[in-house]
Amino acid sequence: MISGSRLLAIETSCDETAAAIVERTHDAQRPWAMRSSVVASQVDIHREWGGVVPELASRQHVRDICGVVERALQDAHIGWPDVDAVAVTQGPGLVGSLLVGVSFAKAAAWALGKPLVGVHHLAGHIESIWLDHGRIPLPAVVLVVSGGHTNLYLVKTEGEYRLLGRTRDDAAGEAYDKVAKLLGLEYPGGPEIDRLAGLGNPRAIRWPGTRLTNPDRNAPERDGRFDFSFSGLKTAVLRHVRSRQAALGAERLPDAEIHDIAASFQHRVVETLVERTFAAARWHGARSVGMAGGVSANAQLRREAERRGASLEIPVFIPRPSLSTDNAAMIAAAGMRQLDRGALAPPDLNASPSLAL
Ligand code: KG4
Ligand code: ZN
Repeated sequence: MISGSRLLAIETSCDETAAAIVERTHDAQRPWAMRSSVVASQVDIHREWGGVVPELASRQHVRDICGVVERALQDAHIGWPDVDAVAVTQGPGLVGSLLVGVSFAKAAAWALGKPLVGVHHLAGHIESIWLDHGRIPLPAVVLVVSGGHTNLYLVKTEGEYRLLGRTRDDAAGEAYDKVAKLLGLEYPGGPEIDRLAGLGNPRAIRWPGTRLTNPDRNAPERDGRFDFSFSGLKTAVLRHVRSRQAALGAERLPDAEIHDIAASFQHRVVETLVERTFAAARWHGARSVGMAGGVSANAQLRREAERRGASLEIPVFIPRPSLSTDNAAMIAAAGMRQLDRGALAPPDLNASPSLAL
């Protein structure tokens, strides 16, 4: 067996301090088993500021990291000597936050004399699908939809990801958070809009359409047919909210209107994500579709993806919501892939805030 049958993973790329233990199994269909996954969220700290404050995030990671790792070992009923390898998120993310995890992981690997792997955060999100569902039919088209990214990948071989499309501007999660702020809802806005959308009418407001016919100015050589754009929708919501505030002479809109705006905004986002993902799946002859990342915890997105998959006879795989949002178990899964390839990190591994995948 390749080294690293029991992996400790650490994730500190944004505002969650997370650690997990994942173990290899002898089941070829489900090669990894999650033994523990601990997430210390900083949401209560950042809520007061309406978003993540990088300096506060890194300081809190420093406070939490030891306790979170100890807890992950305890929950898995193992001790330090039972750890065979260490994986850590190398990037992308907030540099100060990443550095806490990277420094801790390097020190732990060195002290244990065990291998270290540096993991791309989005590879972690992608592998959360395999961690939770075992092996899925390939080729697969995978949508990674989070606070920082909206990327579509083609996976023909396990552990290899080809970028098919990405957002030209805001990530879907970012649009959720900004629209929530506009409506006076608390940070993070995604889960809040998800909840309130259920109370409103998704067809109450018709937003103008978004068309992406122009090439990507930042990468004109790319085929942008599976790209996304959410800033136009965000601006349309902003205009709508401002004009309603002016008409009512009040900052806060009535609850019923907030519910309708949330429902109509979410309707458009989910429709766009599902449309583009399945268009890519059909174009590439995918035998399955995967979705991962914080926004894939969204109830309506999960429902619509399942529905579209069923009608096109393409199975859909989405991790359980606790593995959709940031966690370290997904970093362990991606770390396992790297160990299999022998892609170990050098002892001077550094955080890479804008690492590409
Ligand atoms: O993957 P993630 O935890 O962190 C990043 O890598 O960015 O994603 C966080 C994003 C936030 O924008 C949050 O508002 C959004 O995921 N999110 C949701 C839901 N839960 C989290 N968006 C829509 N519906 C949800 N239920
Ligand atoms: Zn993430």
